[in-house]
Amino acid sequence: MIHFTLRQVFVFDAVAKHLSYSRAAALLHLTQPAVSMQIRQLEENVGIELLEQLGKKIFLTEAGRAFHSHCQNILSELNDAEAILADIKGMYGKFSICVASTAAYVAPKLLAEFCRQHPKAQVSLSVTNREMLLQRLADNEADMAIMGRPPESGGLDAIPFMENQLVVIAPPEHPLIGIYPIPLSMLEQETFLVREQGSGTRIAMERFFLEHRMRLLTGTEMNTNEAIKQAVQFGMGLGVVSLHTISLELETGKLKTLDVEGFPIKRYWYIVHRKDKHLSSVARSFKSFLLEKTNQN
Ligand code: PGA
Repeated sequence: MIHFTLRQVFVFDAVAKHLSYSRAAALLHLTQPAVSMQIRQLEENVGIELLEQLGKKIFLTEAGRAFHSHCQNILSELNDAEAILADIKGMYGKFSICVASTAAYVAPKLLAEFCRQHPKAQVSLSVTNREMLLQRLADNEADMAIMGRPPESGGLDAIPFMENQLVVIAPPEHPLIGIYPIPLSMLEQETFLVREQGSGTRIAMERFFLEHRMRLLTGTEMNTNEAIKQAVQFGMGLGVVSLHTISLELETGKLKTLDVEGFPIKRYWYIVHRKDKHLSSVARSFKSFLLEKTNQN
């Protein structure tokens, strides 16, 4: 019978995920030697090497990969057990939510309203793009997510709760402003600044232009909405962004939207979690809170 401790599982999971002792140490608030020692003891306990160092890089061995996948199951079960026990004890526990970078323009307001109604709720919010977010759900690192349309496969429960319109933005002096409607074909002469690969906005924009058989001239790729908005303001090109991201710029007149045929692209924000996830009562309340919003829209 192999013996290892839960602490070793936590440490190994962190090292295996980041393939770095120092990053794992920082995340777990431990020193690097403490992390190395836990891994050494774990390898002694299981009787096989789980990690190997080649040059400066760390890799999982075959045994390490197999063991890691079971560690993730163990941690996921623990997480669910914690949520179930908190429910039984009647505690109003905590939950973690991960939102797509564009959804970060709507999520804090919603959370603030929810936390005002539920002062004991402890929420942790992280922001990343669509691709990383799906990974975090798959790894059970976030209880729920707010994102654009999630993939059909992947065992996810996803419900739309709020509209998300994508618009074409331009600097205030752009010659197409005031034309209504702007034929789509006129955009072929424009340069578009685009979000990074993996962004939901980028996928929706590319799909839209492909469906309309349009070839776009794409300029610089940028990984935040803020960078796109700034670059558009300074005349580097046009952009396609969510209306949620530009309320301030529209108010101050720093950006304008163009009345292009077929726009706005209508999308929705979805509340998403794994189908097999046991949501704590506070997480379930947050989900219901968002779904009530749907009825108000
Ligand atoms: P993103 O937004 O472009 O910030 O990933 C998510 C989405 O619109 O699906």
